Amino acid sequence: MCGIVGAVAQRNITPVLVEGLKRLEYRGYDSCGVALHVDGKLQRSRSTSRVVDLESQIGDASLQGFTGIAHTRWATHGAPVSHNAHPHFSPNDEAARIALVHNGIIENHDELRDELRALGYVFTSQTDTEVICHLVDHMYNGDLFDTVQQAVKRLHGAYAIAVFCREEPHRVVAARQGSPLIVGLGEGENFVASDAMALAGTTNQIIYLEEGDVVDLQLARAWIVDADGRAVTREVKTVHAHTGAAELGPYRHYMQKEIFEQPRVIGDTLEGVTGITPDLFGEGAAEVFKKVDRVLILACGTSYYSGMTAKYWIESVAKVQCNVEIASEYRYRDSVPHPNTLVVTISQSGETADTLAALKHARSLGMLHTLTICNVSTSAMVRECALAYITRAGVEVGVASTKAFTTQLAALFLLTLTLAQVNDKLSPDAEAEFLKEMRHLPVAIAAVLALEPQIMAWADDFARKENALFLGRGMHYPIALEGALKLKEISYIHAEAYPAGELKHGPLALVTEEMPVVTIAPNDALLEKLKSNMQEVRARGGQLYVFADVDSRITSGEGLHVIRLPEHYGLLSPILHVVALQLLAYHTALARGTDVDKPRNLAKSVTVE
Ligand code: F6R
Repeated sequence: MCGIVGAVAQRNITPVLVEGLKRLEYRGYDSCGVALHVDGKLQRSRSTSRVVDLESQIGDASLQGFTGIAHTRWATHGAPVSHNAHPHFSPNDEAARIALVHNGIIENHDELRDELRALGYVFTSQTDTEVICHLVDHMYNGDLFDTVQQAVKRLHGAYAIAVFCREEPHRVVAARQGSPLIVGLGEGENFVASDAMALAGTTNQIIYLEEGDVVDLQLARAWIVDADGRAVTREVKTVHAHTGAAELGPYRHYMQKEIFEQPRVIGDTLEGVTGITPDLFGEGAAEVFKKVDRVLILACGTSYYSGMTAKYWIESVAKVQCNVEIASEYRYRDSVPHPNTLVVTISQSGETADTLAALKHARSLGMLHTLTICNVSTSAMVRECALAYITRAGVEVGVASTKAFTTQLAALFLLTLTLAQVNDKLSPDAEAEFLKEMRHLPVAIAAVLALEPQIMAWADDFARKENALFLGRGMHYPIALEGALKLKEISYIHAEAYPAGELKHGPLALVTEEMPVVTIAPNDALLEKLKSNMQEVRARGGQLYVFADVDSRITSGEGLHVIRLPEHYGLLSPILHVVALQLLAYHTALARGTDVDKPRNLAKSVTVE
């Protein structure tokens, strides 16, 4: 999703802006650009290629300046073409007075565009951003800080913006509402960015702007007012942001690297867990866990599937009612709130707009006990929730989430055990046994990773298909959903997942000899039922690709391909089975030659609705 960097300094700021964009690349983008104040004029460079290409473009044009803004764009309004790339100018010509970058979606852009057109403004892009840029120009009163405070009152929707003006060379003004934005403080220079990582190496003194804040960045000050125009002091935090993408090492793609990192990051996520206690989730968790009698999980995409898996665990082990909701649905539907609910958000990035909005919605309904399972300790999600468990997956670069998912599952299993303990459903023996199994996970996952050559052989078959079905039962149904999501997002093969028992209620009509049907078949209580479902597929000529456990009595035969996972892993089995599915998706995508780490149309951090 879009990323913003801005700076006011007394040195050429281009390298800081370009480096910032490189650090934001992980979010996904389709164009990028930089604008600078150069000798009393606004100048810019934009590209529909990668940030490195923009960098050489800037070098060729010898573009340098002390004040500037930069952007990576993930297209929402208007195609990913150069004239839609940010920064936008107003007027959009040599005489440009205002330069602006934006992350978010302005809902009343049509109405504002009509109004500005009537005033003579000429629009050269399809973006909602150009509307804000002309609006600021139109309202400009000689004081950019004041102008932006007035202008944002006209905007409906979500935005983080950074703007500067030809007439005020040492000033950048930024504002946020619904999209993340931070301020970085330097010595005689100040910065703004979408996240602290963009400024790693430049400053670690970070202010997280709050909803409605507008900031005036000058060389020696960063002055913030809230939505009502009152001066406010926001806490300055020392943030040791990750320095971005790690080295690829021997791997071809970050996704492959991240799949193979799972034994280590699961170990990291469980580090320091010597016993089950509410304290794992933060100060005050013990009282909160005692008060709550149900759980509501809010998340999107892959994180939603980890929540779905946790529902099986929480209800069966802790005996606590658990509902899981897709955040973008929950935030807009009428639901029946219950004050004794533990609201759990799950998010890799901690910045997903829908999940944050769903959290706020739950709070507005009076559900105030909030906990997040999140991979980024400095994110909005962690700041917004009272309690947190930080997964230690490390920076996830591949757009398709892998290690974040399995570390979420590990954290959610800890939550399950904690709720069970609080509710007297966990004996000391059971606790010790579960913890032992959790500690053994890195070894068990490593054994699944060793199946890679067998999975690669299957991937060659899959690469020639255009459709695939995934079947699972019980807590492996969400794993089937996750396997199908991984396959479709990186290989572009249409894939759907069903609870195996649902097959005969409709999807069986799709099964022909051309249809590969991936089946997750752990040796659990549902195995015999699942075998009947597999027969239904074979009887229609469907090709079964079965991930069985070492001790499931399923053997390869005509139209039936079996890979055995080395251990049967009981309740934690989803964590092992999903790793096999990640490898299948990865190698299928590789065989099809897609851009595995940056699949088309997708972004890593989804900060718009
Ligand atoms: C899929 C994927 C997405 C994310 C979703 C939520 O591989 O990565 O479905 O899981 O966009 O993102 P987070 O977890 O950052 O809230």
